[in-house]
Amino acid sequence: MRRFLIAGNWKMNGGPYDAAELLQGLKEQKAEVDENVDVLVCPPFVSIGMASEILHDTDIQVGGQNLHFEENGAFTGEISGSMLVESGCNYVIIGHSERRQYFGETDETVNKRVKKAIEHKLAPVVCVGESLAQRKKDEHFDLVKNQVKAALFGLSEDDAMDVVIAYEPIWAIGTGETASPEQAQEMHKHIRDVLAELYSQDVADGINILYGGSMKPANAEELLSQPDVDGGLIGGASLDAGSFSEIITIAE
Ligand code: G3H
Repeated sequence: MRRFLIAGNWKMNGGPYDAAELLQGLKEQKAEVDENVDVLVCPPFVSIGMASEILHDTDIQVGGQNLHFEENGAFTGEISGSMLVESGCNYVIIGHSERRQYFGETDETVNKRVKKAIEHKLAPVVCVGESLAQRKKDEHFDLVKNQVKAALFGLSEDDAMDVVIAYEPIWAIGTGETASPEQAQEMHKHIRDVLAELYSQDVADGINILYGGSMKPANAEELLSQPDVDGGLIGGASLDAGSFSEIITIAE
C-alpha cells in the first residue's frame, strides 16, 4: 500500500548555513517519523552535502531539485545523477513548472531526466500541472494527461513504480491560493486513471501522487484526507521547521 510522502522543495532558498539551522530545527522536532510517512527535503545543490550530513541519523531523506540527462562533460551549471547519489540523495524533483517556465524545460527533456534518474536509482518526483488560463479553457485534464504520458514515455512497469508524480497547479504555487480538496482529488484520480491506462491498475495504485501549491498546516489535513492525495510537495511552508513538521504530524 502507498505511504505518504511529505517533501519540501526549498527552491533557491537556503545556503549551507541556513540549511544547517533549518535542519537542526527540523531534526529536533522530527528525528523519528511514523512508519506510514516518508519525509524528504530538497535543498539547493550547494546545501545537499550539509543536509545529508545533518540528517544521516534521522528518517528524513534528501533529494535534488533537478539533474542533467548526461553523465558528465561540458554542461556548465548542471549536476549529474551520480553527483546527487554521491552527495546522499535518493530522490530528485524533475520538470517543476518553474524549470519549464524559466529554463526551457520541455516534456522531452523531462522524459530524458526521468530515465537518467531511474538509471541512478533516484526516485524522480515528476511535476505536472496547468496554468490558470489552461484551466479556464478547460484544457487542464488533457494537458496533465499529456505531461504524465510524455514524462513516462518508454518506461517499463518496474521503472514506473519508482516514479512519484506531483500535481502542482501553477495558479496555486506561491500564491496562497490552494486547489480545493475536491479539485485536487479530481485531478489526482485523473492522473491515476492515466497511469492505469498506460500500465495497469496495480501499477497505478502503487504510485504516489503528491499535491503541491500553497500547502500549509492550515489546509494540509483536508488535502491529505483525499483518497488519491498521497502527500505534498511543499515550497514556502517547508522553509519553516515548525510548519513543515506540523504537516508531517498531520500526515502521521
Ligand atoms: O514545489 C513546490 C511547489 O511549487 C509549491 O510551492 O508551497 O510555495 O506554493 P508553494
